[in-house]
Amino acid sequence: MTSNTAQQDAAVADRSILANSAYADGRHLTARQSIYQWQQPQYDLPGIVLGELAGTSGIVLDVGCGNGKFVSRLHKDRPDLRVVGMDISAGILAGVEKPVLVADAQALPFADDSADAVLALHMLYHVGNIEATIKELARVLQDGGVLIASTNSDHDKRELDQLWARAAGDVLGIPEGPARVSLSSRFSLEKAASCLGVVFTDVQVRELPGVIEVTDPAPIVAHLASYEAWAEQCGVPFRETVNRAAEIAAATIESRGSFKITCLGGILSCRP
Ligand SMILES: C[S@@+](CC[C@H](N)C(=O)[O-])C[C@H]1O[C@@H](n2cnc3c(N)ncnc32)[C@H](O)[C@@H]1O
Repeated sequence: MTSNTAQQDAAVADRSILANSAYADGRHLTARQSIYQWQQPQYDLPGIVLGELAGTSGIVLDVGCGNGKFVSRLHKDRPDLRVVGMDISAGILAGVEKPVLVADAQALPFADDSADAVLALHMLYHVGNIEATIKELARVLQDGGVLIASTNSDHDKRELDQLWARAAGDVLGIPEGPARVSLSSRFSLEKAASCLGVVFTDVQVRELPGVIEVTDPAPIVAHLASYEAWAEQCGVPFRETVNRAAEIAAATIESRGSFKITCLGGILSCRP
C-alpha cells in the first residue's frame, strides 16, 4: 500500500497535468489498462456496466470517459441509449465515438435531473473536490437514475509498489526508495462507499479481485512508465527507476518463472 504526500495528491488532481500530459492522448491510459489482459479471472468491465444499465433507458453520461472503452461498447450493445462521452482532455476525446464534450466533472454542462445514468469510472480520484463532484453528478441524475463509479483498492498491485520502492532505492543507493505515486488513494475502494454514501442512499459495491501473472517484464515496464506525467513527484529519477524495475522484474521471472501481481478493483452502483 502506498500513501501519497500532499504534493503527490495535488499532482494527481492537477488539471494541467491531467489534460496536457497524463491524458493528453490515450497512450498512457491504454498502456496502463493493457496489463489486465494477463489477469485471472478476466472481468468484462463494460459488460458489467451494461448489466447495471439493463433497466435504464434514455441519456447516459460517461464523465471522464478517457479513451472511450465504455462509450464504444455502450454504442455497440445499447444503440437505444443516448450516450455522451465527456472528459477534461480534448486530446483523449479525439478518437472517441461522438457525441463527446470537453467538460469538467466539477461543473457539468447539463440541467438538473437530465440524465438517466451517469458513469464515473476510475476518475473520481482525479477531481479536486471529490465530495462536491459527487454532488454535481447527483444533481444531473434523475431521481430513479443510477451512478456507476469504479476505483481500485489501496492494496491493488502491491507487488508493483514493492518493486518500485526497491528499484528507486537501488537508483538512490538506499535500502528502500520513495513510494510510487498512487492514483486511486484519494478515492480508493476503501473510501469510495462512504464518500458516495454521503449523497446516495443505496450504494452497492462489487469487488473484483484477481491476479496478473506475466512471464515477460514488458507489460510491467509499460504500466510503470505510464505514470510519466507524475515523474517530478516521484522523488527519484523516473526513467532510471523504470529501467531498474525492469531488471529486477526480469530477474524475478528468471528465478520464479513468472511475476505475480495481486489486484483488487471495484464497481459501485449508487441510487439516490
Ligand atoms: C483513469 S482515466 C479513466 C478513463 C475511463 N473512465 C475508464 O475507466 O477507462 C481518468 C479520466 O478522467 C479524466 N478526468 C480527470 N479529471 C476530470 C474532470 N475533472 N472532469 C472530467 N474528466 C476528468 C481524465 O482526463 C481521464 O481521461
